[in-house]
Amino acid sequence: MSYVLIIGAKSEIAQATAREYARHGYDIYLAARNVDELENLVQDIKVRSAVNVILLELDILNIETHQHFYDNLEEKPLGVISVVGYLGEQKRGEVHFEETQKIINTNFIGIVSLFNIIANDFEARRSGFMVGISSVAGDRGRKSNYIYGAAKAAFTTYLSGLRNRLYESQVHVMTVKPGFVNTKMTKGMNLPEKLTAEPEEIAIDIFKAQQKNKDILYTIWIWRWIMLAIHYIPEFQFKKMSI
Ligand SMILES: NC(=O)c1ccc[n+]([C@@H]2O[C@H](COP(=O)([O-])OP(=O)(O)OC[C@H]3O[C@@H](n4cnc5c(N)ncnc54)[C@H](OP(=O)(O)O)[C@@H]3O)[C@@H](O)[C@H]2O)c1
Repeated sequence: MSYVLIIGAKSEIAQATAREYARHGYDIYLAARNVDELENLVQDIKVRSAVNVILLELDILNIETHQHFYDNLEEKPLGVISVVGYLGEQKRGEVHFEETQKIINTNFIGIVSLFNIIANDFEARRSGFMVGISSVAGDRGRKSNYIYGAAKAAFTTYLSGLRNRLYESQVHVMTVKPGFVNTKMTKGMNLPEKLTAEPEEIAIDIFKAQQKNKDILYTIWIWRWIMLAIHYIPEFQFKKMSI
């Protein structure tokens, strides 16, 4: 088999996803900042799955490096999965624009820069899959995280357009919208147990849905219905709510 490129690879969701693809025989490129910290993961995957795993240094905010990063891949991947994300601090972002910018650049601009490059290559080769991890936070703006939510909404819309563009080239694009997941991003938050998934559950969902060429994946499944209900709350009521 050939390589799946996972960007934002230090995330626990990314690591679980890497294990899941490796378990099914895919070779793995793991791209992250200070990627050497993933050496133990590499050894573990190699022992369990006997696939190739290659570490690649990547900062999604260093846009000027993206073309070189992709051109340098000796073997181009058959798929890419972006797990990059930054929740940031909403309150800080309201006062300090550099925090707002970091949230938008990490969750949207940086990923778009790399995805544009990869999309052009996949389109020319007429094959490949592209998976972007967005969020249910992008479905409706809330006061607690609307800067992050807006960046995710932009990413969701970008992925929708990309899916539409690449359909004719047989390149499949999937949008993943997790609800709550138990990771470093949500550490210390008081999350409802029944609605909170482990990274391994998200990884299994992503693999299954990608193999079936699903367009949009809510994970875990119940979030599809929660967000449908939230969608139908009229704005005059929604603006008064604290959710
Ligand atoms: N946890 C949740 O409840 C939840 C819910 C909905 C959606 N999501 C989304 O799921 C994805 C994974 O999140 P997570 O929960 O696993 O949190 P996480 O551990 O914070 O993962 C985010 C990853 O993005 C990487 N990243 C941030 N800025 C980067 C940059 N400039 N260049 C390269 N990588 C960068 C981080 O790298 P470092 O390790 O180097 O900081 C981190 O590994 C994110 O897209 C997140 O928005 C999470």
